Amino acid sequence: MDTHLLENKIYLLSLDVDKTFLEESDNFSKTLNLLPENDRNKIQKYRNLDDQYRKLCSKLLQFYGISKITGMRLNKIIFKANQLGKPYLDNGRRVEFNMSTGISNVVMALYAAPDFHKIRPIGVDIIDLDEINSLEDIELLHDSFHEKEIILLESLTNIEEARQYACLFWTLKESYSKMLGSGLSTTLADLDYSSVPLPKNNKVYATSMHIKGRDCIVYIKQSTESNCLISVCIWSDNINPEVSELAIKISEVSDYLRTH
Ligand SMILES: CC(C)(COP(=O)(O)OP(=O)(O)OC[C@H]1O[C@@H](n2cnc3c(N)ncnc32)[C@H](O)[C@@H]1OP(=O)(O)O)[C@@H](O)C(=O)NCCC(=O)NCCS
Repeated sequence: MDTHLLENKIYLLSLDVDKTFLEESDNFSKTLNLLPENDRNKIQKYRNLDDQYRKLCSKLLQFYGISKITGMRLNKIIFKANQLGKPYLDNGRRVEFNMSTGISNVVMALYAAPDFHKIRPIGVDIIDLDEINSLEDIELLHDSFHEKEIILLESLTNIEEARQYACLFWTLKESYSKMLGSGLSTTLADLDYSSVPLPKNNKVYATSMHIKGRDCIVYIKQSTESNCLISVCIWSDNINPEVSELAIKISEVSDYLRTH
């Protein structure tokens, strides 16, 4: 990814939370020290080491993605967050992004708008397919599903398929609510994704949808390698961006951040 700000494009960046790398010599503290002090402090507050690794990877990817796409140097990047915690780039407003943390991967979706008038909010979510493990897990989410989604789930005789659909609906709802920035305070049962098929073969499936008065494009991908589903939602409004996927290694991110 050498070109800065390829316009009207969505970048879907994923970074493997590589424990082996982070536990090697002092790689954890070296990469942690690449971040501003307030981020370092937040990461170190997590008691569980795995959570520290995930949050570290998420922040590294956030700085890396913005710097790579915009060409901004790290010390020029300023992040702020809306009232409900959705982070945004305070300077360089042509880029919208969102982050999600999975068990072994963190992802970032970025949209580089052609001009300031075409900026569109974006949301991303990653769900590990084991997170919804049984019929009881599906039942717990009952109130978040749309009646048409419930009809579809109840029609499935194969539990494995039902689990995958439940994960699909859940991640699509999260990415929509993260696009809005309202998070889970959105009424999830109002969102109907019963027409979205399960994605296959690691390919990104895209479809336009009219969701609660908004024209959106949803993108969904299943990664068989990391056993997860990733969904992206963008408020489309006459735009039709393509997705470019990039899998990045933590060593590459830390080398880049060290020199920018
Ligand atoms: C946004 C939200 C759905 C994230 O849920 P999640 O599945 O636990 O987390 P994910 O890994 O998918 O996403 C986390 C990332 O989303 C981003 N994010 C945080 N708040 C967000 C919001 N309101 N909208 C969009 N994105 C948000 C951040 O980058 C965050 O990463 P960080 O925790 O490393 O800063 C959830 O936190 C939420 O509903 N927040 C709304 C505010 C709220 O109700 N807060 C009460 C918390 S006590």
